[in-house]
Amino acid sequence: MLFRNRFLLLLALAALLAFLSLSLQFFHLIPVSAAKDGVSSKSRKRLMPNPVTEPPVTDPVYEALLYCNIPSMAERSMEGHAPHHFKLVSVHVFIRHGDRYPLYTIPKTKRPEVDCTLVANRKPYHPKLEAFVSHMAKGPGASFESPLNSLPLYPNHPLCEMGELTQTGVVQHLQNGQLLRDIYLKKHKLLPHNWSTEQLYLETTGKSRTLQSGLALLYGFLPDFDWKRIYFRHQPSALFCSGSCYCPVRNQYLEKEQRRQYLFRLKNGPLDRTYGDMARIVDIPIKQLRAANPIDSMLCHFCHNVSFPCTRSGCIDMEHFKVIKAHQLDDERERREKKLYFGYSLLGAHPILNQTIDRMQRAAQGKKGELFTLYSAHDVTLSPILSALGLSEARFPRFAARLIFELWQDREKPREHSVRILYNGIDFTFHTSFCQDHHKRSPKHMCPLENLVHFVKRDMFVALDGNSTNYYDACHREGA
Ligand SMILES: *[C@@H]1O[C@H](CO)[C@@H](O)[C@H](O)[C@H]1NC(C)=O
Ligand SMILES: *[C@@H]1O[C@H](CO)[C@@H](O)[C@H](O)[C@H]1NC(C)=O
Ligand SMILES: *[C@@H]1O[C@H](CO)[C@@H](O)[C@H](O)[C@H]1NC(C)=O
Ligand SMILES: *[C@@H]1O[C@H](CO)[C@@H](O)[C@H](O)[C@H]1NC(C)=O
Repeated sequence: MLFRNRFLLLLALAALLAFLSLSLQFFHLIPVSAAKDGVSSKSRKRLMPNPVTEPPVTDPVYEALLYCNIPSMAERSMEGHAPHHFKLVSVHVFIRHGDRYPLYTIPKTKRPEVDCTLVANRKPYHPKLEAFVSHMAKGPGASFESPLNSLPLYPNHPLCEMGELTQTGVVQHLQNGQLLRDIYLKKHKLLPHNWSTEQLYLETTGKSRTLQSGLALLYGFLPDFDWKRIYFRHQPSALFCSGSCYCPVRNQYLEKEQRRQYLFRLKNGPLDRTYGDMARIVDIPIKQLRAANPIDSMLCHFCHNVSFPCTRSGCIDMEHFKVIKAHQLDDERERREKKLYFGYSLLGAHPILNQTIDRMQRAAQGKKGELFTLYSAHDVTLSPILSALGLSEARFPRFAARLIFELWQDREKPREHSVRILYNGIDFTFHTSFCQDHHKRSPKHMCPLENLVHFVKRDMFVALDGNSTNYYDACHREGA
């Protein structure tokens, strides 16, 4: 009996240790900033745990919770970490809009009751919420490029409109903005007190949810900002490709990727049965249900803790949700392996990366210009950038995801500039394809800006087809 008890105790202890070690790695609680001045890159490597270690199994419900990104107080982030002799030169932020109401409805069901007005006594809450609303009411004067000036500046419908930003979405970005304020303004003094219009570059797509997300982040970053010094540009393309959007080969990759996605879905029996069951419940043809993209609506129910819809024939439930979400995760895995999306991403992300290195190079040369750049965008903006940078470990962009490029100058060697790449607060610099082998080749602590420049100007295209040397060639190559 005694032996058995002791065995059970040991077993429990072992389980606890395994759990602790996994969760420490998983939640990135092991300090990573142990390396500062004077630590050689070799010992730094050893001190640094892999920041992107995945749990052994992907749990669809756990993944869905991460995707919701429900605001909580404790947020860890590694933005702004650099050795003391480095000076922050500029910061380039790409965000996905915050939590939104679905873009689709499940036919013949009541749509989820979510309130898109902003009120203090509803969770989640942020201390700057009321001030944000009253500041928006004072705007905006001439602060927006057309057609942005026709959009509402904050969500305000008691029953959300389709795709509308929710209070959760606003709070997520107030929080992002405040976090960036604490790091970049208070700690690193990125902007002078009398910052000017030219030092901020703000750009958003023409959806109310992206404009409002951008404004919420900006308000968290610069509370009570002067409206006269703000100018939001409008970006018509979700790829932020400005004048370089025409790229036939990119579209070919996308078509092949969509075909892959379709065939992969056909192979999934449980998924098919799930759609069949749900179609029976809502009493529509299975095709119509699939076309209604039910996971979009179900995620809203899930993130807002609103029960899934019912009809007289039954209820949509958690098991349906798990099967569809699990398929999404499997699909992302296959997508990475098949590389069609990668081809699409290299071409899709090139123009905005090209623009970003251009800004960085100008800042590095000490030219007057942007110190802080904000692109308020979509999952379909961030996802190709992550893929193009080779960050296959990075999760699909959650609500209010943030991807940040930091540019640093070595005060001891002022001509040398370095970049850091952060995604949702995690340092991915040494996981990017342009810096993953850096420590094998160089004793330098930080990733040189030139690595990123060479990647965008040349290596991206070599990675694509082994032959092209520029964007125009790669976009127009025959027989891709
Ligand atoms: C900001 O203030 C500094 C001195 O404090 C001055 O040199 C600079 O010209 C000012 N810039 C603007 C845009 O007013
Ligand atoms: C979700 O809603 C149920 C009742 O519908 C409630 O019991 C539960 O506490 C809620 N959970 C959260 C996290 O709000
Ligand atoms: C890339 O940037 C350069 C300026 O540095 C510009 O001349 C060129 O047209 C850009 N190319 C694309 C495809 O955006
Ligand atoms: C590169 O181009 C050459 C000649 O144009 C061709 O023979 C070769 O197959 C191409 N390589 C790849 C990887 O596409």
